[in-house]
Amino acid sequence: MKKKLLVMNWKMNPNNLSQALKLAKISDKKGVVLCPPFVFLNEIKKNIKNAKIGAQNSFWENDGAYTGEISNVMLKKIGCRYIIVGHSERRNILKESNNVINEKIKSILKENLKPILCIGENEKEKKRGETKKVLKKQLFSVFSNLKNHSSIIVAYEPIWSISGSGNSCYPKDAEKTRIFIENYLSQKLKRKNTTILYGGNVNFKNYDDFLKNSFFDGFLIGGASLKEKELKKILNL
Ligand code: PGA
Repeated sequence: MKKKLLVMNWKMNPNNLSQALKLAKISDKKGVVLCPPFVFLNEIKKNIKNAKIGAQNSFWENDGAYTGEISNVMLKKIGCRYIIVGHSERRNILKESNNVINEKIKSILKENLKPILCIGENEKEKKRGETKKVLKKQLFSVFSNLKNHSSIIVAYEPIWSISGSGNSCYPKDAEKTRIFIENYLSQKLKRKNTTILYGGNVNFKNYDDFLKNSFFDGFLIGGASLKEKELKKILNL
């Protein structure tokens, strides 16, 4: 089986460097991308050998009067290779639009970094049977506007399944959506062999089931990436 890409999205956790370094040490495996809060990136980079580092967000300008923002140029300089973009928490809480996401992806690609584009439907959209419509819109708005998009990674994250929601997407259902995304990308957007990840309450209990019953190229893991025991089980340690 091809090695899975495991992207650890720590979100705004943990709240101290020593715990961040402890988690990084456990996760320091080939094929793992650690996405800690910005403040820990440098120190983690210095302390890992096998994993790569990524950022949870970035801004599209290189420098200038943009209070609170961090550029892709800066992130590249400290060794980031991946940038998560369009996460549902940023789309919903910070009102990031598809246009903003496009600007960010253009800038990420310009620096030869890999954008991890998150897409996914919310609970209401799912109930209304609009999952495909939502995903098509999110994919179209990015891929139809970019000429060079060969290194974009897509992460399917049904919003209703992200931890804390109490729900989980069955691997077999996620797989059906993966096939839909793959077909839409290759047939309508002429984008073959896209790396497609799954994210949303992936944990040590359902991880094997996802491996057996779906063909995702990897996983975007939030909550479980912060729990030492879960992490060790997922990483087979
Ligand atoms: P979760 O988060 O694994 O805690 O559901 C995934 C994500 O939001 O990227």
